[in-house]
Amino acid sequence: MKYLWKGNLVDYDGIKIDINDRGYQFGDGIYEYVRVYNGKLFALKEHLDRLENSAKLIDLNLGYTRDEIKGFCEQLIKANDLDSGNVYLQITRGDGIVRNHLYPEFKDQKAVISGFTTHYYRNNERIESGVKAILYPDLRWALCNVKSLNLLPNCMAIAEAHKYGANKAILYKGEYITEERAGNVLIVKDGKVITHPDGPEILPGITKMLILQILKERKMPFEERKFTKDELLNADEVIVSDTKTECCPVIKIGDKVIGDGKRGPVTKKIDDAYKELIVKQCGKVM
Ligand SMILES: Cc1ncc(COP(=O)(O)O)c(C=O)c1O
Repeated sequence: MKYLWKGNLVDYDGIKIDINDRGYQFGDGIYEYVRVYNGKLFALKEHLDRLENSAKLIDLNLGYTRDEIKGFCEQLIKANDLDSGNVYLQITRGDGIVRNHLYPEFKDQKAVISGFTTHYYRNNERIESGVKAILYPDLRWALCNVKSLNLLPNCMAIAEAHKYGANKAILYKGEYITEERAGNVLIVKDGKVITHPDGPEILPGITKMLILQILKERKMPFEERKFTKDELLNADEVIVSDTKTECCPVIKIGDKVIGDGKRGPVTKKIDDAYKELIVKQCGKVM
């Protein structure tokens, strides 16, 4: 297994994380998680756009061009002979300077890039049978549109979900749902899809963006607006979307069964269209 470390492919022992790395000390960095099907990167352009936007929002100098980053992903896929799975990329604001909240000026920042691949195939069982979720308070900061390394509230949310035998934690702020701790939430009511609009309260999910494009193209009704816990629990269908589990139905939240406890027709339609998109870009779904 090869890893990306400061722009080079190395073995595990070749990774030398500095104790003063700002990612290690402060979580001062960002990441991306790109799906690979059939050895090809899916929706790479959209992931690179988001990476650049995350960097911009926190004044982080990425230090590498889009083409260089694309090249790193392709090198990792080749070196690890990856047919299906993902590439994880992480960029911190630099290392080598003794711990100090104050970071260097933009032009002086020397980003530390690292990455690896994980091998897995599509989880058809989850995507077709659905998952259970809990509700959990959204304890995160005010810039959730940055794909930040600071994931402690997300870790706490999923740890709580596991105590209840659930594998999704849907986050709420006051009466409103924001997103899932690692995915966006879409609900279906009377045939219409409703999802939280992009902005600082949620991560602009690439999967959600692609789903909304699918809905638009197929003239299926949708609305981007906040929705309440009550609307979530009384929805006909609930979907959590993310790069790994794609368009995943939620069939139970706490004790409440959603719809008839099975994947609904709108979710299935979206999943079929999403699979077509994967085939178009990558040749096949894996
Ligand atoms: C908090 C959060 N929201 C939404 C998403 C979904 O984003 P994407 O569809 O780009 O995977 C993720 C993915 O990791 C996430 O961590």
